[in-house]
Amino acid sequence: MTQPAAQAKPGASPIHEQIYARFRAMIEQGQLSPGQKVSSLRALATELGVARGTVQVAYDRLLGEGYLVARGPAGTFVSEHATPAQPARVTQAAVVARPPPTQDAPDHIIEVDGGTPAPFQMGLPALDEFPRKLWAGLMARQVRKAGSLTKPAPAGYMPLREALAAYLHRSRGIDAYAGQVFIVPAYTASLALTVDALGLAGESAWVEHPGYPPTAQTLKRLGLQVCDVCVDQHGIDVAFGRAHFPTARLAVVTPSHQSPTGVALPLQRRVELLDWASERDAWIVEDDYDGEYRYRGHPLPALKSMDSGGRVIYCGTLSKVLFPGLRLSYVVVAQNLVPHFEQACRRTAHGGCPELLQAAVAGFISEGHFSRHIKRMRTLYARRRALLAEALAPYAAEGFVVHLQDGGMHLLVDVRDDLDDVVLASLARAAGFAVHALTTWRNGAPGRRGLLLGFTNVRDREEAKRLVAELIRSFELQAG
Ligand SMILES: Cc1ncc(COP(=O)(O)O)c(C=O)c1O
Repeated sequence: MTQPAAQAKPGASPIHEQIYARFRAMIEQGQLSPGQKVSSLRALATELGVARGTVQVAYDRLLGEGYLVARGPAGTFVSEHATPAQPARVTQAAVVARPPPTQDAPDHIIEVDGGTPAPFQMGLPALDEFPRKLWAGLMARQVRKAGSLTKPAPAGYMPLREALAAYLHRSRGIDAYAGQVFIVPAYTASLALTVDALGLAGESAWVEHPGYPPTAQTLKRLGLQVCDVCVDQHGIDVAFGRAHFPTARLAVVTPSHQSPTGVALPLQRRVELLDWASERDAWIVEDDYDGEYRYRGHPLPALKSMDSGGRVIYCGTLSKVLFPGLRLSYVVVAQNLVPHFEQACRRTAHGGCPELLQAAVAGFISEGHFSRHIKRMRTLYARRRALLAEALAPYAAEGFVVHLQDGGMHLLVDVRDDLDDVVLASLARAAGFAVHALTTWRNGAPGRRGLLLGFTNVRDREEAKRLVAELIRSFELQAG
């Protein structure tokens, strides 16, 4: 094992300081790598010929500052989040030195260590709690069936469409038969299918501001003009949209849990939106990406459940309830639109979704595992959300105030006015955290500043505290 403190010299600074400084330098210079085990207290003390307490003082400081992590009987390790180059102090930098605003959205999944998502990744279900054994059984069963190995039907595997229609009726108040449900590989593919089926290329579309960046990017790529419609404390401001962008033919909204502010669109706004669509011969895409997760009160019914005029194109995803690697999402449309969507499905470039996966999901839903899993995750996420909020609470005085949303899978942390959330997020990313800045979800426009932190993979109180301490340290803020 590398011995960082072998040259500790009596007489200079105190020995524990020398040990601390040597470890820190070796970690920062990359001579000790993240995840590497370091000597035990006893072994190091013996080797250096110093008291155990001396090594303990140095280790405590390294642990407290997040350079090392203690993993009980397994030993002490270099933190996975210790990066060779530590960021500069940003008390001033955060105020003045914002990098030029980027037109591209931030990466939505930031992966480190060959596939392990970074802490605070948004929109990622609890990977440690996914019932892998059960899933493996369902997959194995499908592999044995020859049918699942052929080319898939373009609109989706019928038993999955049936299972989703029944689920959506039960849980989201949507009345649709299986033929109205279309299976696609992702939410962005739902948008592409909708634009193609309804012939919307060249039209204008309202998008929420702030809003999920891939929505605007995808619509632009599909040839639409994007109109930013502000979101206030009640969600998208329909009157603003009508006043500023009267000719739009599409609105893409997240009514159950606005992404990213978390507000739910109240009934009056829902009615205004539906009225606008029927008056203007326009369409509404309802992106119901995580409507299942609500921790106060009952899950809200989908906007689609109020859609007597058939103007709402409902988009759901299995990424949040199962896992994003599945690449299975779905679109639900009014009965009269079914032929248009069927034709558009035959035109899609991706050629349908793997039937093997669709069949396994159909089994997962129809055998009752899906509803049970959602129920279990709702309880788990409520706990993890509270743990992360609790770990952040002591930093409120430093200007990081948690805005607890009623639902969803992330927290919005307001940051004090003199700090730049874009700079903070980029420092956090440099230190290995998948943190997003609220400003980036508004294309860099001025307004409320905040950080978006996923809580679903924060496993316990210890981890929450440690991750938050490391995150705050990555900002290198000076208290006060
Ligand atoms: C607002 C929003 N819509 C939709 C999605 C779903 O995307 P996909 O189906 O590509 O996983 C996400 C995923 O993070 C999201 O945050």
